[in-house]
Amino acid sequence: AFCPCGRVCKIHLNEKIEKSNPKVVHSVDVEDLGETSAFCRCWKSKTFPKCDGSHNEHNETTGDNVGPLVVKKKK
Ligand code: FES
Repeated sequence: AFCPCGRVCKIHLNEKIEKSNPKVVHSVDVEDLGETSAFCRCWKSKTFPKCDGSHNEHNETTGDNVGPLVVKKKK
């Protein structure tokens, strides 16, 4: 796939999570969410599917700009 940086990216987005599974899918019950939950979109989290902040190192290393999906209850 072409990257906006102009280079051809040959790596998979998912480097380590459930690699024997043909498709990684997680589900979360809404009732189990707290006031705020952050879900990983960079695929680097050690607590996937929850964000653990690993996107910061990824962004610093690669120049990328990815971050979590934050789900929160309305106030
Ligand atoms: Fe992946 Fe935060 S660790 S988005």
